Amino acid sequence: MKKLIAFYGSPRIGGNSSILLSKFIEGVRDSKKYEVHEIILRELNMSPCLEIYKCKETGRCIINDDFQKIYDLIESAHTVALSSPVMFYAVSAHTKILMDRCQSFWVKKYFLKKEMSEKDGYFFCVGATKGIKLFDGILMSVKYFFDTFNCKLKESILVRGVDEKGEILKHNEYLKMAYELGKKID
Ligand SMILES: Cc1cc2nc3c(=O)[nH]c(=O)nc-3n(C[C@H](O)[C@H](O)[C@H](O)COP(=O)(O)O)c2cc1C
Repeated sequence: MKKLIAFYGSPRIGGNSSILLSKFIEGVRDSKKYEVHEIILRELNMSPCLEIYKCKETGRCIINDDFQKIYDLIESAHTVALSSPVMFYAVSAHTKILMDRCQSFWVKKYFLKKEMSEKDGYFFCVGATKGIKLFDGILMSVKYFFDTFNCKLKESILVRGVDEKGEILKHNEYLKMAYELGKKID
């Protein structure tokens, strides 16, 4: 069975972006095509990247914390899903820590030129405001974050104008979209 790893990047329990991602996961589970691993980033003990660059020797980060198991999971995954709220036009701090630790994958791919299997990526994001450029910076970050482990951003669900905890539950169209997307992925 294929493996999907889903990262929840919201700092709050029951966050809007988490609800969106959980609907996607519901669809994935109903399709019965994937073994699913759900990771709540706020629960991990994970240091930011410290730029030690010991990863240049092996392609593996040497900081001994929860990233070590995340690294193995990402390596063995066929599909990676990520959710984050918009925070100052960027991803959440929890998500950014994960992104920066994946510099070790960048080193593995581009510096050490090691082979990595191709993966598909899906991204879910929610912000309070409605500006046309709200997701521009974030989409660039996510695209290059995914690329570190050879993952192509296939589809995103981006929701504007949602702020209060759980407010996304009033937007059934997005929940349905996320569920259907989860059900149809290969
Ligand atoms: C620290 C912080 C920064 C935020 N920055 C932005 C922002 O730049 N643009 C925006 O539209 N919303 C911003 N928001 C609002 C959140 O994106 C919004 O409440 C979202 O629904 C939270 O998603 P979550 O429930 O998944 O955490 C910010 C919220 C916080 C707490």
